[in-house]
Amino acid sequence: MTNYAFGRSNPSPAQARPVGFKPSALLATGLLVMSLALACLVLPSAGAVAQEQPAVANTVGTAPDGSKTHGGQEATKDDMGKYTMSDGTPTYRIAPDGTMDWFAYSGYRRYHAECHVCHGPDGMGSSYAPALANSLKTLSYEQFTEVVVNGKKTVGVGTADQVMPAFGENLNVMCYLDDLYVYLKARADGALDRTRPSKREDKTKAYGDNENQCFGRK
Ligand code: HEC
Repeated sequence: MTNYAFGRSNPSPAQARPVGFKPSALLATGLLVMSLALACLVLPSAGAVAQEQPAVANTVGTAPDGSKTHGGQEATKDDMGKYTMSDGTPTYRIAPDGTMDWFAYSGYRRYHAECHVCHGPDGMGSSYAPALANSLKTLSYEQFTEVVVNGKKTVGVGTADQVMPAFGENLNVMCYLDDLYVYLKARADGALDRTRPSKREDKTKAYGDNENQCFGRK
């Protein structure tokens, strides 16, 4: 993407200069400055185009098939049982009869094993760490992943420092990043309430295989 945009906006001096014309050092510099200015103009707009998506309400909605999904978008299921939106972001899906997808259920369990001691049950937050059911209303999938992998430390103003540990080396978290995201996004969207989930899709063989591979098991 970047290379493409840069290449297009950065004509080589050979193309730009008239045949048989000997550019002075000054002209060459001028061309370079112009190319850079062009690149600056073009690159951000190229990024904006890539992000352009149909406007989706940032909350739960009803998809054409009657299921509950993020913004009511149609979600595609893979053989692991993971649903994704058209932009490739993992998402939850609650079937019309209330059956939740495997990733949301698994994320619920992983959250309560690894995160709730600090972030409170059901993503509700504690005096120590923020309510993730609220954070995920605005955090993107990429931002979420970044914080969980690398941690985060806000130096307190008048209070104690808050430290989110880096989980990048912890397979019990890394192997379930998408599960955690999907569950917390469902909480943030209001698709799941605080009651213990009952009906869920089954764990697939492909999911189990992937899990074993992630943990380095055979
Ligand atoms: C030892 C306590 C602790 C544990 C365990 C913990 N966190 Fe955190 N987390 C924090 C604190 C404290 C912050 C706030 C850090 C800051 O703002 O500087 C935080 C921040 C975050 C944020 C950013 C929230 C925002 O609004 O910007 C995310 C996302 C997050 N944690 C996800 C998780 C997940 C997922 C888990 C479980 C795998 C987890 N955390 C486990 C303490 C913890």
